Amino acid sequence: MKVLVTGGCGFIGSNFIHYLARKHPTYKIINIDKLTYAGNLGNLKGLNKKKDYWFIKADICDKPVMKKVFQKYRPEAVVNFAAESHVDRSISRPAIFLKTNVLGAATLLDLSIGFGVEKFLHISTDEVYGSILRGKFTENSMLHPSSPYSASKAAADALVLAYHTTYGLPALITRSSNNYGPYQFPEKFIPLIIHNALHAKKIPLYGDGKNVRDWLYVEDNCEAIDMVLHKGRIGEIYNVGGHNEYQNIAVIRGILKALRKPASLIAFVRDRAGHDRRYALSITKIKRDIGWTPRTPFATGLRKTIQWYTNNPGWLKNTQTGAYRSFYKKYYSKLGLSGS
Ligand code: NAD
Ligand code: DAU
Repeated sequence: MKVLVTGGCGFIGSNFIHYLARKHPTYKIINIDKLTYAGNLGNLKGLNKKKDYWFIKADICDKPVMKKVFQKYRPEAVVNFAAESHVDRSISRPAIFLKTNVLGAATLLDLSIGFGVEKFLHISTDEVYGSILRGKFTENSMLHPSSPYSASKAAADALVLAYHTTYGLPALITRSSNNYGPYQFPEKFIPLIIHNALHAKKIPLYGDGKNVRDWLYVEDNCEAIDMVLHKGRIGEIYNVGGHNEYQNIAVIRGILKALRKPASLIAFVRDRAGHDRRYALSITKIKRDIGWTPRTPFATGLRKTIQWYTNNPGWLKNTQTGAYRSFYKKYYSKLGLSGS
């Protein structure tokens, strides 16, 4: 199979390319990435030796360039990870989220129709459902996105389904819960905790710290995406959850304990605007129809993740670019913390 992966230099995209190359060594993989602050070619070290792997630096919103890519490589499948993905950034600057996450997706959908793509797998998120205090969301639950990020993801989901209904695009969607693992940019909660703890910096904890997320080890998500790509029913949505619900405060305490760092590093700060209290997904459908369940208990995944970050200080250091620093300097000083 010839698979075009977008956003393949980001966290989940790069883990997925490694997974795909291992699982299906004969597949041809085309990786399109704009290399924003979140994209890192270093995540794909080693793959350059693979014969049937190509990287093209391009913006999914740039239709003429993307058309040339489709013309040249004629992908059979498209897996769209490319997105602006951080909620706090979407609150400060929503416009780029609408551009990449909605218009960029629309560009890929148009080209996929035009070039007869056989499967279009769109990577979405549990955040499109909004918050739930009790119970779990199913794929039929109403969408109530709370942030500009999740609203842009919900808009893209609606477009994908509309292209399936109107033009017959063979599309599929996965909606996963919070991923964690190697190569995650340290603006997201778990790598941020590890990074700040290793550097003896304060760790901002929003609100009362009792918001709940369902943590999914990235490798498990890659397996789910691969299974949906091969076995999913066209036109369907699949929730992908980790069965690991924890309050944020418990996650910080666990990591500090594992790293033998003091709890005094925790800094309670002003809550995130529109902060969803709890996410929880029913995964009955993907279990029943595809046979996927998460494999990694949170303690195991967290141990591996902490180990990966402590063994890769160079990777962490490289993420602290000018763009990262200028955003966080302002953002942290608004929270009353040092931005260095
Ligand atoms: P990420 O921010 O780590 O990576 C995004 C990648 O997309 C980067 O490599 C970036 O350079 C690239 N990109 C951004 N704009 C682009 C553009 N216009 N053209 C081409 N490339 C562009 O994100 P992630 O955490 O790996 O998330 C990947 C996808 O999974 C996103 O669609 C996100 O909404 C979804 N998702 C993430 C999580 C999670 O917990 N991280 C959970 C559920 C769903
Ligand atoms: O649920 C899936 C989503 O998970 C993905 O779609 C998003 O791309 C991804 O960013 C993530 O969104 P969250 O907002 O849940 O993740 P984040 O890592 O930003 O925050 C996790 C929780 O930790 C959330 O309740 C906010 C809290 N938090 C986060 C940061 C960065 C803090 O308390 N302090 C922080 O500094």
